[in-house]
Parts: sequence; C-alpha cells; structure tokens
Amino acid sequence: MAAVTELHAYRDEVAGCTRCALAAGRTQVVFGSGDPGADLMFVGEAPGFHEDKQGVPFVGAAGKLLDQLLSGIGLTRLDVYVANVIKCRPPGNRDPMPEEIEACEGHLWKQIELIQPRVVATLGNFATKLLSGRPTGITRVHGQEQETTLGGRRVLLYPLYHPAAALYTPRMLDVLKSDFARLPELLGREVAPPPEPVFLTAVTAEPAVQLGLF
Ligand code: URA
Repeated sequence: MAAVTELHAYRDEVAGCTRCALAAGRTQVVFGSGDPGADLMFVGEAPGFHEDKQGVPFVGAAGKLLDQLLSGIGLTRLDVYVANVIKCRPPGNRDPMPEEIEACEGHLWKQIELIQPRVVATLGNFATKLLSGRPTGITRVHGQEQETTLGGRRVLLYPLYHPAAALYTPRMLDVLKSDFARLPELLGREVAPPPEPVFLTAVTAEPAVQLGLF
C-alpha cells in the first residue's frame, strides 16, 4: 500500500482511539494535516479549543503565526505536514500528562514512519523532549539541528520555540523568526545514512581483538 493510502488508513483507525482518558472529553481526534509526502514536518504539543472543534492542528492564534512564519520562507501549510505529540485536547488546555504522552506517542512515530520527512521541526518543550529523547529544554536547544533516526530513517531534528509562547513575547518571536529562516538551508542538506553496524564476524577476529576481547 502506498504510504499516503496507509497514512489515511491509519488516520481513520486513530479516529476511534481510546488509549487514554482524553478520549472521553474530546470532540474529535486531531490527527494531523498537510502534505503526506512533505519533506518538512512540524510537531506541536496538543490540540486546543479550536483544533478540537475543527479537527485540524494549529488553526487558532498560534496557527496563524505558524502560517505567517511559513509564508516568510515561501511555504504554505499545503507544503508541510503538521501534527502534535498528543492527538486529543487536554481539558482546559493543560499540559499533557506523562501517561497521555506515553499512550499517544506511537501514533506520532507511525506518522513519521509513513511521511518520511527530511526535517522534523519540534515546536516547544514537549515535542522536543520526546523526539530528542533528552530532557534538555527548548531554551537551550532551539535553533540547533541534530541528525537522528526517527521512524526508521535519518532526519534532521530542529527544535523551535512554540509559536504560542512567541505570540506574547517579542524577544522570543525574533528568535523564532531567525531560527525559522534557516529551514530552507536545512531542507537542502544531505543527511548521512546511519553508521554501518559493526559485526564481530568469525571470518576476521580483528574487531574483537581491537576491542581487547581476546
Ligand atoms: N498548539 C499546539 O501545540 N498544537 C495545536 O494544534 C495548536 C496549538
């Protein structure tokens, strides 16, 4: 099955997800939107009020800012794919809880596997910590790309401030804009294939010798 068809089939499956308690309070699952074959994927935190009602990520004030930032680098929402760590709205827009992230993260991994983006831009702390596998906060890592393996492929992970945080903090907005401006360069960058695994074979004992095993 082509990846696009598979992504749509997966979206339809996730529409009935009951992996965590957020299922009870949602209007609908907010799976993701945009080009299923995009080179650039954004990962935000969780749907808010408007996203829950419309079933599309980033349609509120933060979404408008995301649209403007994209336009600044010559892109629209149709050129990229946008998803969240959590697919259902937490009540009162509270932070996602660890057990909700744990229950939901499989959906995001599957999306990344099917979309096969070259650059994954994480928006804010929750997406950055989950996808980097590190506890370091966004203030320290924003704008610093790193090669990593996500969904079985090498990608550039690129942490950015969350647009909602930048909305009311002009200094943060300036930083977000300048970090955003590097996206075209990152999209053009070759990402090296993963390093070859080193097998200790019976044919030559050298690696094992080098490791001092004999
Ligand atoms: N903030 C997010 O992180 N995701 C959305 O979809 C909307 C706002």
